[in-house]
Amino acid sequence: MIKQQVGVIGLAVMGKNLALNIADHGYSVSVYNRSAQKTDELLKEAQGKNLIGTYSLEEFVESLETPRKIIMMVKAGDAVDATIKNLLPLISKGDILMDGGNSYYKDTIRRSRELEEKGYHFLGTGISGGEEGARRGPAIMPGGEEEAYRMLEPVLTDISAKVDNEPCCTYIGKNGAGHFVKMVHNGIEYADMQLICEAYLIMKKVIGLTPPEFHEVFKEWNKGELNSYLIDITADIFTKQDPNTGQYLVDLILDVAGQKGTGKWTGQISLDLGVPTPTITTAVYERYLSSMKEERVNASKVLKGPENLDKKSKDFTEAVRRALYASKICSYAQGFGLMREASEQFGWDLKLGDIAKIFRGGCIIRAQFLNHIMSAYDKNHKLVNLLLEDYFKDIVGQYQMEWREVVKQAISAGIPTPAFSSALAYYDSYRSKELPMNLLQAQRDYFGAHTYQRIDMDGIYHTKW
Ligand code: ATR
Repeated sequence: MIKQQVGVIGLAVMGKNLALNIADHGYSVSVYNRSAQKTDELLKEAQGKNLIGTYSLEEFVESLETPRKIIMMVKAGDAVDATIKNLLPLISKGDILMDGGNSYYKDTIRRSRELEEKGYHFLGTGISGGEEGARRGPAIMPGGEEEAYRMLEPVLTDISAKVDNEPCCTYIGKNGAGHFVKMVHNGIEYADMQLICEAYLIMKKVIGLTPPEFHEVFKEWNKGELNSYLIDITADIFTKQDPNTGQYLVDLILDVAGQKGTGKWTGQISLDLGVPTPTITTAVYERYLSSMKEERVNASKVLKGPENLDKKSKDFTEAVRRALYASKICSYAQGFGLMREASEQFGWDLKLGDIAKIFRGGCIIRAQFLNHIMSAYDKNHKLVNLLLEDYFKDIVGQYQMEWREVVKQAISAGIPTPAFSSALAYYDSYRSKELPMNLLQAQRDYFGAHTYQRIDMDGIYHTKW
């Protein structure tokens, strides 16, 4: 029997679309899902393609050519361990297992170690782009042994998105590096979305824009330096009317945000690694706050805000656009700063320019602006903070006064804009030669004898306050 070239396990939305995408690129594919129904559904959809369904792991493994290339698209967490455990007695040394789910990078580090010790290859691979990306071309972030990646590289680059004819897939680094980068991508995505939502809220409250006007504003923004997938879909969202009520759908959606945890992980890890990512973390907190709907409704009745709202004309949209762009730059500076530190601490040797390059297509944060990040790291791969690179430094310098004006407006009107504000505070803290931590050190020494250093003399000091 002729064996198939690639196997996909787990046929929920991402797995199913990835399997179809692989088959469309001329590879023969075997699929398997724990419950048979999803396999049957996919087989119906894949008629005419070189894709076969299998109904046991034995049959699945047996159907693949060696060394086997198995892509697992099962639920992150225990399902990945269970699937690996069930596969191990069936596969052979030298086979490649790829986990394409949203796994926690520490799990990936552990699985890499365990599997590599036993002679198997393991790739922890971040895949971004949602349903459409998986089907038509996602951004792919493979981590693990480079040798194993090279064996799967033709498949992964073929199915990935392309920008300027280049694949949005590149080898990221050892063990957990791919999943780590995917996690930071998601953290940045949280911040991007929160910033867009804050821009919307300011313009809604201060200018009073309507959904058709929002559509025009975002459509216009998408033609300039903010050009991106998220701005594009935002413009589109404002055109959708609810067929039952005739109202704009966005106005009927409950303001409570969900999440699946990758943004939270980014915040947690930035605390662990000691890297400030306030804008990303704030975006996670705002989702938590949004879900306290009942409490917010009650608080809105008792807690005072400013009485008068200073209205602005439509010209103010340009100031908001600039504030959004400057805030976005700070949030990427934070996310890339986190990857830089992780690279050092985990010995991953991350190529930040290449990472910016593959983020340009397929994934949710794809944007024109990533070209600037790519060239910043191409010019100087040791760049300590994106804000210091000429393009970003100049833009933020040029936009900062309007950025401050927008934040001021929002604050005096009592409009919550924590991501705009935290990005600005990050900018101001980062560019501050002096922070008030002299006083903080004095306090620490006062109550806990934690000691301090002096600016005028070397050494460690303690004072009896
Ligand atoms: P969805 O809700 O979209 O189906 P999910 O629950 O996250 O997604 O599961 C994603 C995939 O992981 C599915 O293919 C699922 O298999 P089933 O269709 O049989 O549920 C698979 N999966 C989840 N837990 C699993 C486990 N313990 N072992 C093997 N596969 C598992």
